[in-house]
Amino acid sequence: MEEDLVSLFEIAELAGVSPSAVSNWRKRHADFPEPVAELRSGPVFRLPQVRSWLRKRRVPMASVVSVINLKGGVGKTTTTIALAEILSGVHRKKVLVVDLDPQTNATTMLIGEDSWRKLNDAERTLARLFKDALDPANKKFSLEDTLQTGVSNVRDVRTVDLLPSSLDLIDVQDRIASMPMGQFFAENPIDILRKAIKPIIDDYDIVLIDCPPNLGIITLNGLRISAGYVIPTIPDVLSTYGIPQIVRRVGDFSKAIAESIEPFGIITTKYREQSTIHKRVKRQLAAEKDAPLFKTVIPENNQIAGAADFAAVGTLRQKWGYQGQFDLYSELATELLTRVAS
Ligand SMILES: Nc1ncnc2c1ncn2[C@@H]1O[C@H](COP(=O)(O)OP(=O)(O)OP(=O)(O)O)[C@@H](O)[C@H]1O
Ligand SMILES: [Mg+2]
Repeated sequence: MEEDLVSLFEIAELAGVSPSAVSNWRKRHADFPEPVAELRSGPVFRLPQVRSWLRKRRVPMASVVSVINLKGGVGKTTTTIALAEILSGVHRKKVLVVDLDPQTNATTMLIGEDSWRKLNDAERTLARLFKDALDPANKKFSLEDTLQTGVSNVRDVRTVDLLPSSLDLIDVQDRIASMPMGQFFAENPIDILRKAIKPIIDDYDIVLIDCPPNLGIITLNGLRISAGYVIPTIPDVLSTYGIPQIVRRVGDFSKAIAESIEPFGIITTKYREQSTIHKRVKRQLAAEKDAPLFKTVIPENNQIAGAADFAAVGTLRQKWGYQGQFDLYSELATELLTRVAS
């Protein structure tokens, strides 16, 4: 083979991803270089073109996943934190958790209430970022001061960073939503997060965004940078009610911004084996075409509920549970990695 020609396998090696990931880039990105020849072993590409495409996309790209459901209390935050800690502690990934929910639960699960209060008082949260967009003459957000590195109360979790949230995001969300577009001048209101974290995003293997239970402007800021999203849900009628709407609206948004945002899947949470409704709705979710269903099912369990408590723990198993709970979240993390990479 000529020196400046590369196969899909060689591109995969160059970018540190699987060959199927490269095939997917080709499918998803119209600007991926055209092959210069189709050999029996597959297409070949010009290396300089491929290199420049990878550089332009700043590969290795962090995989950004939004965790979303319009229903509250379905386990979005718990799923986010369990995945973040396991991807770090078990899979040695560098993980960023972005807390976009004004309830600040992901933040307090990772750094505790006292630390959060101090950051909040000093305006070292994402609320400040969005306030800056409303008041560009008075910008105060500092990425460096806001990013909390090496968070989590689990000893063996060392590579989770956090962009903390604030209750003030409620107010900001309302103000941004009611603002005429023209007032943003150069600032596009769905690009606020993307622009702010650009300098650091490629330091991470995976970014998990804990979204509030709505599809407002703050959530759209998260989806804007996401390769895809997961929908944790309790398998009951009310919790699953909004799922087709989420898939449709995110699909429309993805078209509008001309970026693919994939439904990585629905995650069954707080499952009760004895409940006939849970059984039935889980079967329905598996049959529906809106989004694939993760195989792993997270049961309703006291130890999992206890993980919300910020008290130092030694190991991931101690935190998430020895009776199979940790193993289930591990399986979920593995499933997520597969979906993100394919
Ligand atoms: N598998 C589980 N078993 C038992 N309790 C759970 C489980 N998952 C989450 N919980 C508990 O249920 C409550 C809601 O969970 P969580 O905060 O993760 O949901 P959420 O979807 O993020 O809620 P919100 O919409 O308020 O942000 C919390 O008290 C949490 O500790
Ligand atoms: Mg939550």
